[in-house]
Amino acid sequence: MIVAIDGPAGAGKSTVARAVAQALGFTYLDTGAMYRCVALARLRDPQANAAALEIALADSVTLNGEDVGEEIRSPAITELASEVAAEPEVRAAMALRQQAMLASGDWVAEGRDIGTVIAPQAELKIFLTADPTERARRRAEQTGRPLDEVLAEQQQRDRRDGERELSPLVAAADAVQLDTTALSADEAIAEIVELATQRSGGRSQ
Ligand code: DC
Repeated sequence: MIVAIDGPAGAGKSTVARAVAQALGFTYLDTGAMYRCVALARLRDPQANAAALEIALADSVTLNGEDVGEEIRSPAITELASEVAAEPEVRAAMALRQQAMLASGDWVAEGRDIGTVIAPQAELKIFLTADPTERARRRAEQTGRPLDEVLAEQQQRDRRDGERELSPLVAAADAVQLDTTALSADEAIAEIVELATQRSGGRSQ
């Protein structure tokens, strides 16, 4: 079974997706981390070819064997990841890998295009949103950076991720929209686990 969790930055996707995977006993796939690895590789070598990178996502994130779990969370990589994610060759290379992983087993896959492009067959699709100011407030709190800066960068990234030609951030027509503005992470997690349990029950009937 695949649970797809898409949505903009700061809606709580990572926290929620990770916890839902744990609760269901599914494997968690953080596709954003893959784009972040491509961005880091490009920062180090502007000629880096996304298709040739060795990216492993387990307890930590490794790029060509090196643990980059912390480095890929920097503001510079956050910005560059949104840029490289608009490149057709990068998306094609990541899509191949993601689809190969999702071909078997039980997954909670988090990203922007999981329910629309990568796994349109997903049994459950969640589009996680939150008010933009609330999203920026959460990120500012996490990172200790000024709210106005975080909000300005977020607006730019939202625009780029939402308006790019290839796999823009949009909710799948059959996605369940979950607004976390006034919802705790635990409430969002419980709701998704409940929906997934219902859907998997439906599947086996
Ligand atoms: O979820 P995140 O912030 O780690 O994602 C980093 C960047 O990668 C973000 O700008 C959007 C992009 N991304 C994407 O285009 N498609 C995905 N499936 C996941 C992330």
